[in-house]
Amino acid sequence: MPDSETLSNLMSENRRFEPPAELAADANVKAEAYDRAAADRLAFWAEAAERLDWGQKWDEVLDWSDPPFAKWFVGGTLNAAVNCVDRHVAAGDGDKVALHWVGEPEGDTRDLTYADLKDEVCRAANALTELGVRKGDRVAIYMPMIPETVVAMLACARLGAPHTVVFGGFSADALATRIADCQAKVVVTADGGYRRGNPSALKPAVDEACEKAAENGQTVEKVLVVRRTGQDLGESGWDDDRDVWWHDVVASASSEHEAEQHDSEHPLYVMYTSGTTGKPKGILHTTGGYLTGTAYTHWSVFDLKPGTDVYWCTADVGWVTGHSYLVYGPLANGATQVMYEGTPDSPHKGRWWEIVEKYGVTIFYTAPTAIRTFMKWGDEHPGKFDLSSIRVLGSVGEPINPEAYIWYRETIGAGKVPVVDTWWQTETGQIMISPLPGVTAGKPGSAMKALPGVSADVVTEAGESVPNGSGGYLVLTEPWPAMLRTLWGDDERFKETYWAKYAEQGFYFAGDGAKKDDDGDLWMLGRVDDVMNVSGHRLSTTEIESALVSHPKVAEAAVVGATDDMTGQAVVAFVILRESAVEEADEEGEGEELVQELRQHVAKEIGAIAKPRQIMIVPELPKTRSGKIMRRLLRDVAEHREVGDVTTLADSTVMDLIKQKEGTGA
Ligand code: WTA
Repeated sequence: MPDSETLSNLMSENRRFEPPAELAADANVKAEAYDRAAADRLAFWAEAAERLDWGQKWDEVLDWSDPPFAKWFVGGTLNAAVNCVDRHVAAGDGDKVALHWVGEPEGDTRDLTYADLKDEVCRAANALTELGVRKGDRVAIYMPMIPETVVAMLACARLGAPHTVVFGGFSADALATRIADCQAKVVVTADGGYRRGNPSALKPAVDEACEKAAENGQTVEKVLVVRRTGQDLGESGWDDDRDVWWHDVVASASSEHEAEQHDSEHPLYVMYTSGTTGKPKGILHTTGGYLTGTAYTHWSVFDLKPGTDVYWCTADVGWVTGHSYLVYGPLANGATQVMYEGTPDSPHKGRWWEIVEKYGVTIFYTAPTAIRTFMKWGDEHPGKFDLSSIRVLGSVGEPINPEAYIWYRETIGAGKVPVVDTWWQTETGQIMISPLPGVTAGKPGSAMKALPGVSADVVTEAGESVPNGSGGYLVLTEPWPAMLRTLWGDDERFKETYWAKYAEQGFYFAGDGAKKDDDGDLWMLGRVDDVMNVSGHRLSTTEIESALVSHPKVAEAAVVGATDDMTGQAVVAFVILRESAVEEADEEGEGEELVQELRQHVAKEIGAIAKPRQIMIVPELPKTRSGKIMRRLLRDVAEHREVGDVTTLADSTVMDLIKQKEGTGA
């Protein structure tokens, strides 16, 4: 959490940006929506659900008789893929572009209309059926950012086979854990994808993951492989019994597929995310409520006009933002959008802005870490392109600092485009707290207030609402349609993690700190638990500690998230070596090589995003008398601050030893 100085600087921020008059006049959602939703929340969400096509209408909007297990639109049936694709074709929008896909290699583009998407999804659904996928089976998806990824997700949704998309940057080990946890029997992948100008392999990691998952009792029966880069498949090669090419089985499948109407509460997908313990949590989202929540918020928060807007969310589909605001929300709304495969600086630092100009992007949604990177690269890169089509800018994933907000508004938004800072989580499924571009006078750095139909508060440890001008814990006080239903296979952990802290009040505990300003508007302050936020990606301190300790040379490890100008937080690790390794490290001179070895080890165990920025090899870790590591003190060291109060340490000289080591390591 920011220190009190940062906090008071934030709170004294007094710039306000009124919505542009034209946008306000024609906005999808006006101020009255807040009152209407407050008067009857369930009626409000029932109306939002009318945006979708239902097979059978629901009997009850919300069943909350067994909290915290919610059921939304009880008795209703629908098909998510039909809602995202078929119904737009049926309504005469078949020729409308659904995806302007842009590959990383220049000139490698594809436009898919809604009719194209429908054919592809139907073919893929038939092919998956052929491969043995049945309603209720889990399918893991480990893919680059290509149209087939969206097609695979929708094909699973069509069949009622929950998908679990694993970010392509995760390691084989991470993929194996997820395959085993949700017992996926089929994996959809590609030979590779393009990153930073080069093909980057995926299939070898799938082979390794399948082997590991089998050791953990889960046999993957089929691996469906898209040929994207044409690269060599690596040592593990091709398993004729298990592996099938997408172009062999999908291209030849029929484009006719009759979709079943699934129960509103039928599982749509499982998305793994970091929690406070080492084991990732499988967040379960279901169909009717999730689609209602994402479609409504995508339409309201971005003021989407499906007929004219060109929307672009830069998130990878491997994260929840890609699920809710690249796949389900926008497609349910019949939007035309851009999907880009690669990195923002390939082949040049203006690539994103070139794409905005080319497709006339009107709504642009990205993360603060990207915005700060562009600030660093310089205004000349966006300056080379015409960005005047943009009319709404969105931010997600971490608190946006006022400087980044202002730069975004000025440089990308010509000094007049509203910025919507959207707070939500993998668990919430949908945006919860955000300005509305046609209603809210935005404050740089504030997510402002809960959306219509959403109830949030900031409370004390005891669960009492704090007065304006004070901070506390962010809670959600009423259920919402896209809320997670449970953790895959672990109802107890679901209750314990989110609902136990405020069991008496029945609040959902978000794990974030927040402050109400004098107007009651909300300022998000980051996590209050052992979850870090690096470049908008959630990482668990415990998970990285376990990865470090699994290295044979490491005896003990403590990880903290240190404030970082560019990535928000950065991973800093403190490591105690085993006796045998200590001598070796000394010989190698401060253990530089070992530090690199440990960083690589973390990348292998979890993924490159989890690699510590710095690893300090220390003789001891600061612990209380009861043996708890005092991360607060380590954070002081990592952020180069005066070390705080050490009186509760079992051995108060430990911090001196650690301070002596400061500056060593990578
Ligand atoms: C943080 C990403 C401040 C927060 C959609 C939350 C934010 C975690 C914001 C969820 C924001 C997300 N302002 N903090 N606008 N958006 N966060 O599950 O700490 O990857 O708990 O979902 O990101 O991360 P997740």
